[in-house]
Amino acid sequence: MSAQYDQIGDKVADWDVLPVRSEFLEGHTIFKALGSVEEMSVLDLACGDGLYTRQLKARGAARVVGVDISEEMIRGARQYEEAQPQGIDYHVADVADMRPLGSFDVVTAIYLLHYANSPEHMLRMCRNIHAHLKPGGSFVTYAFNPEFSAKGPNSTRYGITMLDFPEAPRDGQALSAELHTKSPFTIHFSYWSRDTHEQALREAGFRDITWLRPECSPEGLAKLGQAFWQDYLDNPHAVALRCER
Ligand SMILES: C[S@@+](CC[C@H](N)C(=O)[O-])C[C@H]1O[C@@H](n2cnc3c(N)ncnc32)[C@H](O)[C@@H]1O
Repeated sequence: MSAQYDQIGDKVADWDVLPVRSEFLEGHTIFKALGSVEEMSVLDLACGDGLYTRQLKARGAARVVGVDISEEMIRGARQYEEAQPQGIDYHVADVADMRPLGSFDVVTAIYLLHYANSPEHMLRMCRNIHAHLKPGGSFVTYAFNPEFSAKGPNSTRYGITMLDFPEAPRDGQALSAELHTKSPFTIHFSYWSRDTHEQALREAGFRDITWLRPECSPEGLAKLGQAFWQDYLDNPHAVALRCER
């Protein structure tokens, strides 16, 4: 999996400007699920080149640490940190195997769990996430929507197209999506049902698992209108998930 994002490199930054990634939709949904992070310690997993890691610090988190399996992504994140230091530490690791990095108030993971290559891999990720949280801490993640429907609108006009999406995806089934950046690229991941996510989270010790569909912010609605966002909101490619230790 590291190779996948090592190849994609800085094309990822182009993705950040597409509607699907917009602060009106993805950012709004994630930060609403998170609530305030002021003065908190936050571990941002699958941080990529640090898009949300930097935002977490900018929103007042006291300590922020980013982790990604891809050396190339972390190289990019460190470049941002060097250019505009915020005091963020970055590490290269697979979340399933990362060494202890401390105890955090909040763990975030924006686009991680669908990269698990087996239920056992997802369970190891969830156990390690749980182990990095203080008692009472929260885990907020954003992941491929287990209820994305082949019959619903695809998300092409928002910047991402699910390729050959099956009518009844099976757990562990290989999926691909094309990202419509300046130089388009394809990502590969696995389908995991809601039950598989919830089972891994519960077995790892999490409680109060809540799924949250993406929402558009009032600013996003004012700027582009409800009609622009509606197809995406009817069949979003990703959803948020929050649970507590
Ligand atoms: C779609 S990118 C998202 C990056 C970032 N969270 C963002 O939203 O900009 C997914 C990231 O997950 C990372 N990743 C995939 N599997 C991982 C694993 N097992 N452990 C850590 N990072 C992983 C990839 O290297 C990639 O950078």
